[in-house]
Amino acid sequence: MNTHVKDMPQTKAKSHFMKRAWYVAALSADVGPEALFHRRLLDIPVLLYRKQDGAPVALHDRCPHRFVQLSAGKRNGDDIVCPYHALEFNAAGKCTRSPHGTGAIPRAAQVRSFPLVEKHGFIWIWLADEEPDHSLLLDYGPLEAGPPTGVGYTYMYLKAHYEMIIDNVMDLSHVDHVHGEIITTRGQLSPLIPQLKEGDDTIGARWEWKQTPPIGILANFLPEPDVEARHFVEVNWSRPANIQLTIGATQDDVPLGLDHCVGQYDLHVTTPETETATHYWFATRRNHLEHDAEFNAFKIKAMHDAFVNEDFPLIEAAGQAMETSDFLSLNPVLISSDAAPVKVRRIVKKLIAEENAD
Ligand code: FES
Ligand SMILES: [Fe+2]
Repeated sequence: MNTHVKDMPQTKAKSHFMKRAWYVAALSADVGPEALFHRRLLDIPVLLYRKQDGAPVALHDRCPHRFVQLSAGKRNGDDIVCPYHALEFNAAGKCTRSPHGTGAIPRAAQVRSFPLVEKHGFIWIWLADEEPDHSLLLDYGPLEAGPPTGVGYTYMYLKAHYEMIIDNVMDLSHVDHVHGEIITTRGQLSPLIPQLKEGDDTIGARWEWKQTPPIGILANFLPEPDVEARHFVEVNWSRPANIQLTIGATQDDVPLGLDHCVGQYDLHVTTPETETATHYWFATRRNHLEHDAEFNAFKIKAMHDAFVNEDFPLIEAAGQAMETSDFLSLNPVLISSDAAPVKVRRIVKKLIAEENAD
């Protein structure tokens, strides 16, 4: 008996990724006025470019005719001309011109376009089928609270599942064992049990300690760089893969917070490229030496190099050794500092299951 396709139950493909979220697609600075910028996000090929008025556009980077990447094509004003048979698409993904036959445009000649928001130095993309939920794009305003010479942005890429990066930032107990002089706590942090903060689909962890001399990234900005200082670091995760981190130190009798300490506000953001590779952005705004462009460039490079040279080899090697992206299925040994990252993993799993159940 033949079953017609229309009689089959229509099931939505299950995603391994959380879709109902704003992901970073690119740094604003990375998509120039003329560029046709290709990037794979959540396993979807995406073309990013800017209209002549500067507004960013995201289209599925696949021509609906014979599936060539549109990013290999040319611009015609705000439209994109496919490099293969020259069908032309506008910024909404609608085919506007065919040089073939009568020039009639097939109704199916439509490319998917994705909603974007440009904010805080990033282009954020909504990849879910549903209408975008703007309440899910949080405020990272501290990145913009100061001069441009007091903030740095960098892009990194690694061959590992994105949740391994969340683990790495939510569990900072590795800093004394992995990192060199600039961010070691000289053994003070890893014995501490982090204080947890659980919100509505958010998880935070905080550590407070004393060290002599103070942490390398802050010591020279304290009154006495060789003398003991009180420190704090706090990480706060929110969906899908965004972690705000604040760190500070003081030698005065003041509350341990960024308002009173020498410190910085950082944002770690990841977007899966595939199940096994991740785009990773790091941005940092400091509250000291804010007008020094040369120091700014030095600082973001030093942080970038620390992640790439010290964290990434371990994360990539662990990912390969796991041979699965389902970390918890391996029954990992858990230590005190795992409370926050494991809670994040459980929320991510729950949110993905909820999406797939709808
Ligand atoms: S593949 Fe794009 S026009 Fe043919
Ligand atoms: Fe690290």
